[in-house]
Amino acid sequence: MRKLTENEKKWIDTTLKKISGKMEEVTKRNLDKIPYTTDKYGRFDDKSGKDICWWTNGFWGGEMWQLYKLTGNEMYKKEAIKVEDKLDENLMNIDGLDHDNGFKWLPTSVCRYKLFNNKESYNRAMLAATNMAGRFNIVGRFIRAWNNWDDVDRRGFAIIDCMMNLPLLYWASEETTDPRFEMIARAHADTAMKAFVREDGSVNHIIIFDPETGEIVGKPGGQGYGEGSSWTRGQSWGIYGFTLSFKYTGDQKYLDTAKEIADYVISEIPDSHLIPIDYRQPKDVELEDSTAAAITASGLIELSMAIGDEALSDKYLDTAISLLKTLDEKRISWGDDADNLLNNCAVDYHGDGHNMSIIYGDYYFIEAMMKLAGIALEIF
Ligand code: GLY
Repeated sequence: MRKLTENEKKWIDTTLKKISGKMEEVTKRNLDKIPYTTDKYGRFDDKSGKDICWWTNGFWGGEMWQLYKLTGNEMYKKEAIKVEDKLDENLMNIDGLDHDNGFKWLPTSVCRYKLFNNKESYNRAMLAATNMAGRFNIVGRFIRAWNNWDDVDRRGFAIIDCMMNLPLLYWASEETTDPRFEMIARAHADTAMKAFVREDGSVNHIIIFDPETGEIVGKPGGQGYGEGSSWTRGQSWGIYGFTLSFKYTGDQKYLDTAKEIADYVISEIPDSHLIPIDYRQPKDVELEDSTAAAITASGLIELSMAIGDEALSDKYLDTAISLLKTLDEKRISWGDDADNLLNNCAVDYHGDGHNMSIIYGDYYFIEAMMKLAGIALEIF
């Protein structure tokens, strides 16, 4: 990764001060919550209790740990531990466990274990990893994404997002010296390279395998515009996720795949640096997803760090900084009247979750800024 300019350093410093200033107030008035989005008054909701199995419930914990690292304020540590404790109800509910165990227990239990060697956190994370490993389909060589609901058979569903969950398995192998977790993660990553990544470097969101034979039977557009389209958050999970598989295994093919996806994404980013929900959505549709911008930026920084000082990594870093600056200037509520940071986030193209705040957008923005400053906790 190239050296940052003095101007860039100043901007990073100012932005981190804005983050810590705002988030101290926001956290104080949201103690005990696990936020996902905000209401019409800009106030966080709470996914504790009946919604404890929701897939995003680890991100507030991760945000608290990053802010604890940034400021040393014990309030953040206490809140992070509360999220982790609450997630036990999810850990004991088999129907609420799926491939997103990574998104829930990497930013909570694994993070706390790495910081404080906490045995309870180790147990929780290892249970989550073991359950995730149990989702591996041996014939299709993929990790099953979701459980069945609404009478849809999802035994053969795999999604690109899962690349971000694999570090839970890499961590479990590192800790136990048992290679099985890593074998499963690598087998899934190998399948994902072939099944999800297209010739032009774009990625599909969902691949449906026949769960009995492993044959591919469907490639729906998932949360994107439609079949053959290019859901922007999915592209960002691909860049970041394949880079992580390289980071944990050292296998060059994963780095090459991350670069292919990144090159495609860079060729599609609009001049405005505001990211649509799908790079192939109709040109006259102005729907945006700021979470895709933040995740792409954090993934590109990770990729730039993984490549080292090759000149090639500069273009990834430059793009990441442009995306983050655009969010900072145009898509963040810096006043502390709203609880969220990022605006114009979207759940998917066809649903009604548009122009909202979403917690993982905020998480990845903070993480990316802290990575630029060289002080981020390594959560994924
Ligand atoms: N992992 C689900 C999503 O990105 O919406």
